[in-house]
Amino acid sequence: MLNGKRVLLIIGGGIAAFKALELIRLIRKAGGAVTPVLTPAAQEFVTPLSASALAAEKVYSDLFDLTDEAEMGHIELSRSADLVVVAPATADLIAKMAHGHANDLASTILMATDTPVLIAPAMNVRMWLHPANQRNIVTLEADGVSRIGPDEGDMACGEYGPGRLAEPEAILASIEARLGQGPLTGKHVLVTSGPTHEPIDPVRYIANRSSGAQGSAIASALLRLGARVTFVTGPAEAPMPIGAEIVPVQTADQMLAAVTSALPADAAIFAAAVADWRVESATDKKIKKTRSGKPPALKLAENPDILATISKKRKGRPGLVIGFAAETDDVIANATAKRKRKGCDWIVANDVSPGTGIMGGTENAVTVIDADGAEEWPRASKRDVARRLAERIAQALG
Ligand code: CTP
Repeated sequence: MLNGKRVLLIIGGGIAAFKALELIRLIRKAGGAVTPVLTPAAQEFVTPLSASALAAEKVYSDLFDLTDEAEMGHIELSRSADLVVVAPATADLIAKMAHGHANDLASTILMATDTPVLIAPAMNVRMWLHPANQRNIVTLEADGVSRIGPDEGDMACGEYGPGRLAEPEAILASIEARLGQGPLTGKHVLVTSGPTHEPIDPVRYIANRSSGAQGSAIASALLRLGARVTFVTGPAEAPMPIGAEIVPVQTADQMLAAVTSALPADAAIFAAAVADWRVESATDKKIKKTRSGKPPALKLAENPDILATISKKRKGRPGLVIGFAAETDDVIANATAKRKRKGCDWIVANDVSPGTGIMGGTENAVTVIDADGAEEWPRASKRDVARRLAERIAQALG
């Protein structure tokens, strides 16, 4: 919920501008207020009247509108919000921001503001991929501007690729992640999720059946409670948690590196099904069948244990470290021993025997084990398990 937070929404001139109207509606529905600013080009796509009617506020568009200057100068306007959102952020607006232009109301606000800025780019795929635009994006990242999207898909111009405006629901989730109030507001939580893929050669890999559903659900539940979430994920099928900072990885080694560089965190939840082994001598040439018909022998090497590495960190260990224990026998006894061995604070144990349908399924039955003992939770959807776990985390961090 946005509970009275104010968004200054700069609508750029692009075919996706119509989606900004839906965004205004969603922000207001979430309890937020919107001040719309339309660039002259945006007014070719949506009318100030529709933006004003949906926002129930005055719309600003012209830098030299004296009435507005008398009521509220552009400097004041730029500081009147809790967050400045640019959606759609066109290639032109992005270039202006990166180079510090201030020759119309939108660019002047963006230069004068001292509030955090979130951009939702939308443009043709070639424009998005153009080196000039990519340079500008890197500049804005270095300037601390946050970004959501663009999404990949069919474009209004008939091409396919990255460049579509993120969906309004996703932009709202990103705004809520920044402004929303909840018991985890101000906390940074790290979540690992999904399987890892360990290469054998350029076309083959070792993997497991994890769908990433439980990890995604946990990240979403934490976001709903106001946490800032870094989501380090292997190649998972489950939808990504909207509003989290997504860090995609393939291997256990990459996952450890991504987790380490995402620290510090107040809590870390290791829901990934990390492959225990990798192929020691993975080749970059495809392994061919031999004439003798003898299959190749794969020599395995042990992967780093990410949970144990972070739990045992002397410096910069998150205050609360939570592991999962996927077991098929003696679930509680094995998980209790695993908690001690890995050095984490809580372990969420689940029975992944084939009969349970848990691995890759939609439900989970877990037992949460901490220093005080074991707490068995009834079988529920992965979403409900995630909600309960996020609430327990909020209590522990509170
Ligand atoms: N884990 C990890 N890095 C690994 C292996 C596991 O971070 N290389 C984490 C998982 O994310 C999970 C916990 O450790 O939170 C336990 O994973 P599990 O597969 O149950 O345990 P293993 O260490 O593989 O132990 P075993 O195979 O003996 O059951």
